[in-house]
Amino acid sequence: MTTAPPRVARDSSEEAILDPTASGRRPVIVADLYPAITREKRTLVELTWEQQRLHESRRWSAMELVGAVDLQRLSELDRHLVWNAGRAELTTKPGADRLERLADAECRKWQGRNDAVASILQACGTWSRYWNEEEAHHETSFNRLSQLLELEPISDATFIEYRKVFPDDDMLRTLTLLSISEIVAAVNYGNCARVIQEPGLKALFKQVGADEIQHMNYFIAFAKALVDSGEYKAKEAFAVAHLFLREGGEVHGSKREHVETRGTHVNWWDQVEYREGLYSPDALEKKEALIFNALKRITGMAVSSARQVEDTWMELVGC
Ligand SMILES: [Fe+2]
Ligand SMILES: [Fe+2]
Repeated sequence: MTTAPPRVARDSSEEAILDPTASGRRPVIVADLYPAITREKRTLVELTWEQQRLHESRRWSAMELVGAVDLQRLSELDRHLVWNAGRAELTTKPGADRLERLADAECRKWQGRNDAVASILQACGTWSRYWNEEEAHHETSFNRLSQLLELEPISDATFIEYRKVFPDDDMLRTLTLLSISEIVAAVNYGNCARVIQEPGLKALFKQVGADEIQHMNYFIAFAKALVDSGEYKAKEAFAVAHLFLREGGEVHGSKREHVETRGTHVNWWDQVEYREGLYSPDALEKKEALIFNALKRITGMAVSSARQVEDTWMELVGC
């Protein structure tokens, strides 16, 4: 059931858009969205068709993948990973609902002032429906498995609590935060897949991890397009990266000495439970390297340490 990861067009968006006569070409994420809209005059109908094609080409069945897991063969560690993943995935739906609302509202602000930016934002809001649908597979697969395994149940009160919506923020900050959230999730799931022995559960974690990488690539593409437009400032992307990478920052998740109590929303990375003696999916260096790579792709600025992220952010703020 697994599909190959999508190819990301990095150099030109020209070939990234479906030529109706070339039906056999693989769908891709349009990585250079700003020139695609401004120079190549790609329309929202064309961009949306490419999103649809990529979504369809990557679809998988939660019922089939859950059905393929041999419940009797799962270890205590496997069960722990499933339970954590199910709870974390509950927070994605409010994120996608919020993105749809914010992107559309922001789009309307730019109409007539900068129509290319309005189109970027509408492309982003439109894509949020695929993101939401794909995350539904993650949430329901893991929580159904938790239930079949008779793990600690998620009460309706917890379910509703995890659906609380993150407060509104600047669009570039939002897209950078979502890119980083997908990076953390992808690395965690990749590590889980490596330690899980049962083939059905391993395949599920691998599939979900591949989805998260694809989501990261989309968020980076939308964020880059906003920076390329000149209307959004790179300092906002660095500010969010610093929040994660600073000492004791968000990338440490629930292992931080001080995790803020928030009445407003639930950050899934604050809620992962680490238990003594059980493997915890950390891989901080890998997460950091992917965050540096995301910053480079979004802003064009290269950094290779948390210190450099902070220094660059301070310089940009001073400008
Ligand atoms: Fe997910
Ligand atoms: Fe995701």
